[in-house]
Amino acid sequence: MKIHSKLDSLRAQIAHWRSESSRIAFVPTMGNLHDGHYSLITLAKQHADRVVASVFVNPTQFGPNEDFSRYPRTPDADVEGLREAGCDALWMPPVEVMYPMGVERAVQMRVPVITETLDGAHRPGHFDGVATVVARLFNQVQPHVAIFGRKDYQQLAVIRAMVTDLAFPIEIVGAPIIREANGLAMSSRNQYLSDEERDTASVIRRTLLAMEEGARRGDDASAIEATAVKSLQDAGFSVDYAVLRAADLTDAEVTQGAALVALIAARIGKTRLIDNHEFVV
Ligand code: PAF
Repeated sequence: MKIHSKLDSLRAQIAHWRSESSRIAFVPTMGNLHDGHYSLITLAKQHADRVVASVFVNPTQFGPNEDFSRYPRTPDADVEGLREAGCDALWMPPVEVMYPMGVERAVQMRVPVITETLDGAHRPGHFDGVATVVARLFNQVQPHVAIFGRKDYQQLAVIRAMVTDLAFPIEIVGAPIIREANGLAMSSRNQYLSDEERDTASVIRRTLLAMEEGARRGDDASAIEATAVKSLQDAGFSVDYAVLRAADLTDAEVTQGAALVALIAARIGKTRLIDNHEFVV
């Protein structure tokens, strides 16, 4: 696996693969890789001849009071894990390569409407930062296909909207959520949890499944959401949201055959966790 930190060398590698008509898959990450990320590499290999991963902790998607400086950085373990997973190239740009004019002067992306709800409402500017860096990564890597985890459901919707609206010639694939044995969705932020908090965190998955049961019983969305918030609060969470939405994140109509998604963002101690569950009623 070749590691690139300069754009010229990454571009030469990509040009070489494209000259061989290889199909290139891309897995963007912020590092501190776990089995959830490695499952994205496995899926990427099924969609392409060559797989490029990136590791870049993107400052523009963290709010002023968020965990940018303490976000876990484990480059040596990431390189080792990606090599074992069969990744072909790793793009690890320094911040001045990603933002050559500086973060303050960086050209920015904004995907309206879909970013104005849920995490977009609770983390102002977060998705502008995500879209800004992903557009840059797409221009740098120029993949045929890019893989994003479905755990970040709204992020995936934002990327799909950006790719459609700007006609990026890139197929976007959503990858299934990988979970710990207790149902907790894998995330780099899980390592902030104490053992007790990790046990409590399993309530999120159970609450999502209970939201599906409520929909199947024919309960209305607001009753389902109120019950979910109460279960989470009773377990000790501070809840940002626990909602039922249509698959496109508009208001849910709980009718037979409807494709819905239950989404939760909640804090336990200092750690904010998100998860979701897609189902058809
Ligand atoms: O999902 C992530 O890890 C990040 O938001 C991404 C897509 C790598 C952009 O920094």
